[in-house]
Amino acid sequence: MTERKKMTLPALFTKVLNGEQITMLTCYDYPTAYLQERAMVDMILVGDSLGMTMLGYDSTLPVTMEDMIRHTQAVRRGSPNSWLIGDMPYMSYQVSVENAIHNAGRFMAEASCDAVKLEGGAEMADRVSGIVAAGIPTMGHLGLTPQSAGAKGGFRLQGKGAIQAKQIFDDVMALEEAGVFAILLELVPDRLCKLITERVTSCFIISLGAGPDAHGQLLIYHDMFGLYPKFKPRMAKLYQDAGAMILNGLKEYVAEVSERRFPQPENWFGMPDEEFDQFLQMLD
Ligand code: KIV
Repeated sequence: MTERKKMTLPALFTKVLNGEQITMLTCYDYPTAYLQERAMVDMILVGDSLGMTMLGYDSTLPVTMEDMIRHTQAVRRGSPNSWLIGDMPYMSYQVSVENAIHNAGRFMAEASCDAVKLEGGAEMADRVSGIVAAGIPTMGHLGLTPQSAGAKGGFRLQGKGAIQAKQIFDDVMALEEAGVFAILLELVPDRLCKLITERVTSCFIISLGAGPDAHGQLLIYHDMFGLYPKFKPRMAKLYQDAGAMILNGLKEYVAEVSERRFPQPENWFGMPDEEFDQFLQMLD
């Protein structure tokens, strides 16, 4: 494996100051984390999107802290050096500041995260400042926020109109004031993302379908590789169709076993004649 240094918050901010783009992907399991580590992805998000991509739910709402911790531990084992962010699942931070700090602390203590992420704007500022005051780096998430997608009219562009754009801008300022180190802008217009990127001073902006003018980009891993069968968001790019590749392999396996072409001698192990004869005698 390529040796890499542990990614840190100062190193991320240095990249931003040098005008280098930050790379970020979602990840939910050990083998994928191992590959993302080798590819030198800067930041890995164990998103509660795992409820849809890995567990087959129709939304992220049923995902629990236990689900998140288990997957995040696996990702940390595969990627010791990325900046690892645990996504706070539904109702793990909404209830109270104390509850938010407690659950953020679990991500750090039980899954060796570097940071946590939560959805929401000004209404979540007290949660953010509480978690940050507990010494836990925190990322915000605005625009399309899947935990409240229902209330926002589904998985659609946010901030297209002036009033909603101003609301998102104000939420960015509130989160920055509360102490986030970064904000994910998901599915907002490119020029809104660009303006916000230019205006923030103490945090950096990551775009997911919000255009090129952010400090970095995020993609959902399953969308990049054709691994989520239910839909392919327009904002995603298919880098390789691993889903099709795996399906072909599976069909080939079924055909080979059915036609007795698998296994071949290189796939099994023999036993010396004298040992087998002795074994047969032992049965008599
Ligand atoms: O859960 C997740 O993967 C996320 C992305 C949609 C950014 O929050």
